[in-house]
Amino acid sequence: MKAYRAAILRFTDDQTAVYERDGLLVVGPDAQGRNVVRAVGDYNALAPNYPGVAVEHLPGRIIAPGFIDLHIHFPQTDVIGSPAAGLLPWLEHYTFPQESRFADEAHARELAIFFLDELLRHGVTSALAFGTSHPSSVNALMAEAQRRDMRLIAGKVLQDRHSPDGVRDETEQSLVDTEALIRKWHGVGRLGYAITPRFAPSCSEAQLRGAGELAARYPDVWIQSHVAENLDEVKWARELFPKSRSYLAIYDDFGLLRERAIYAHCIHLDEEDRAMMRATGAAAAVSPTSNLFLGSGFFDYALAQRAGFKYGLASDVGGGTSFSPFHTMLAAYYVGREGCSKPGLSLSPQHLWWQHTGGAAQALGLQGVIGNLQPGCEADFLVLDPAATPLLARRTSQAESLDELLFSLIVLGDDRVIERVQIG
Ligand code: GUN
Ligand code: ZN
Repeated sequence: MKAYRAAILRFTDDQTAVYERDGLLVVGPDAQGRNVVRAVGDYNALAPNYPGVAVEHLPGRIIAPGFIDLHIHFPQTDVIGSPAAGLLPWLEHYTFPQESRFADEAHARELAIFFLDELLRHGVTSALAFGTSHPSSVNALMAEAQRRDMRLIAGKVLQDRHSPDGVRDETEQSLVDTEALIRKWHGVGRLGYAITPRFAPSCSEAQLRGAGELAARYPDVWIQSHVAENLDEVKWARELFPKSRSYLAIYDDFGLLRERAIYAHCIHLDEEDRAMMRATGAAAAVSPTSNLFLGSGFFDYALAQRAGFKYGLASDVGGGTSFSPFHTMLAAYYVGREGCSKPGLSLSPQHLWWQHTGGAAQALGLQGVIGNLQPGCEADFLVLDPAATPLLARRTSQAESLDELLFSLIVLGDDRVIERVQIG
């Protein structure tokens, strides 16, 4: 066992932040040998219970749960900052050409290392990631995550139509490949697999049907896709699947809405869609930097909360502009202010932070496992330096409440705040 003395941030089950100014975090192996939080609380109250345990003192630092990125494309690391009129031309001109490079396994391996380095440098200890349509892209990412013992979930993209040579896959083979990857990686160490139809317009009915059958056969495997991101995309999806009630309903019609199904964007939904999200247990990956950059629209927090479906924050790199959870949380705040049906909504800093940690874990069905530092959670945590820059030092030293402290970090923070990242 080992213990850390610092300020500690964690969350209760009802999403409220708990902040210990002088806290103690005790970590050690559980019955399976996995490093977990054994105890957490006030230093003076807890320390006498652990007399022989070495304590590392981190004065002036904050220990916080590792961030979770609920939707990110590992092969789009080199796409960040590619401007286009909107989603569909962006896919055609920048994204598909970059993704076709992943037919080359050496390229995939090199990017997997860079990508995971970049996530960790920004304090992201878990992610739900898209690969490309090439199975080797997933093998490269999984192998690298396994080497680091990261809790990572990823999948091979399914796209058997409306996709150019180099990224388009073949229906039968894509499903065979998906099942082989599930068997190879799902539940191996801390890895998980996600069945990954790119989005309904890029998948034939046969491919979506096959994906739904796999989702039924492997109920604890995740599902990830995109929905209702962009108005041209919505129109196209509706034309391609006229029998479905809505774009979101296409996925439901193929058995792809359920617990552990994460849909990126969820912007242009109607009330029935929102009710379906809640009823099926599917979750939204809210990607504000991507939605602002591609001009897609705004996730409606007020309507999501009213409908009561699950959601969490995501970078959506390379549509998204940053790996940094601080940038994503700030963009989410702006969107809440300006882009929501409830005028002037002011999302609290605790709620923004929760969306990128405990809330993202809940969306994945991994509450109590990652995204928090309650006893029993896996010991993925960050050591934050609230004085990482002169301006941060000035501003955070004047914070008079937890909300002020968290808000100053969200507004002024970036990778410089992440002093250390501890995985498992
Ligand atoms: N819809 C289908 N593919 C993609 C993608 O790669 N990025 C985003 N943002 N939307 C998509
Ligand atoms: Zn995406």
